[in-house]
Amino acid sequence: MITPVLPASPESIRRAAAIIQRGGLVAFPTETVYGLGANATDAEAVARIFTAKDRPLTDPVIVHIAKAADLDSVARDLPPAAHVLTAAFMPGALTLVLRRAARIPALVAAGGETVAVRMPSHPVAQALIRDSGVPIAAPSANTFSRPSATTAAHVLEDLDGRIDLILDGGAATIGVESTILDLTVAPPTILRPGGIPVEAIRALLPDVQVAARYLGVETAAAAPGQMLRHYSPRAALALYTGTDDDATLARMRADIAAAQAAGRRVGILVSDDAAHLTAALTADLGTALEVVSARLFAALRDLDAQGVDLIVVRWTRREGLGAAIWDRLVRASNGRVIVVKP
Ligand code: TXA
Ligand code: MG
Repeated sequence: MITPVLPASPESIRRAAAIIQRGGLVAFPTETVYGLGANATDAEAVARIFTAKDRPLTDPVIVHIAKAADLDSVARDLPPAAHVLTAAFMPGALTLVLRRAARIPALVAAGGETVAVRMPSHPVAQALIRDSGVPIAAPSANTFSRPSATTAAHVLEDLDGRIDLILDGGAATIGVESTILDLTVAPPTILRPGGIPVEAIRALLPDVQVAARYLGVETAAAAPGQMLRHYSPRAALALYTGTDDDATLARMRADIAAAQAAGRRVGILVSDDAAHLTAALTADLGTALEVVSARLFAALRDLDAQGVDLIVVRWTRREGLGAAIWDRLVRASNGRVIVVKP
């Protein structure tokens, strides 16, 4: 182990802030997932994030601020909806795409004119941003395409030796990333479902749209292999869905048996009624949506650590956090979505 992991305390947070100020990289907890932070106003520091993560420069990063008054320092020409949503959901698991202020280097936005802004509620993230005195650019603190890190140990697993410090603030409570809402387009469009449910945003912003790629099972299933590989465990993941529970579970049992007969080690992500699919390694996701989202990424890493070749999971819920969980599973499956017809 080369990168120090320090329990988050006022002193270690000050040390982390000093690293940010001199252009270094610090991983820190937020309520969604761990972030890998750098001074958002320093293009060289931001460039180090991309190198550490093996992240393509075409994928823009989110800028984190501590308070609503800082919005004007990173974005400009805020539309009225930005104020409504800020009052309702910030600090919290919402990211707004706005017009980029000149102070934020283009690299943060992959060269574009917009900037994604989030105000985390986690006290360690809040303290780090305040002590640093600058907005903090931070993607999730995982190697590109791996499941996001929800604990300091998972950050270390991916980024040891590549970053300057990890602040350990315990396990992330929400467990999936923020909801991303683009306010620079009409109608406003959700680019990624996440910790704030689409329904809660729609209650304040009735004309909000959801980006087409999230609209249906068919979209996901029609494009196997076409998707950006993301959130992926090392094992292949097969995602089952369908309206008929018995038919879906029967198909899963048959596929698991066939894989095992072919000598593959199979792991199951278990939520509620998939519990009786046995004879394979399991990771328990729990049943309540908040519990499933909090456990999801750790469960993927856990099955990987057990050396499985194939992970199977059934997911049907799309309401509330169910939409974000579905999205992460679709992407982890790399488009391997099996829609079982009754
Ligand atoms: O909860 C979260 O959002 C976490 C924590 C650390 O804040 N961050 C996170 O960052 O998930 P990342 O980089 O893993 O995902 C951010 C996503 C990327 O897929 C990127 O394409 C999108 O946000 N994004 C960033 N800036 C954007 C912009 N200006 N316009 C559109 N999308 C943007
Ligand atoms: Mg990420």
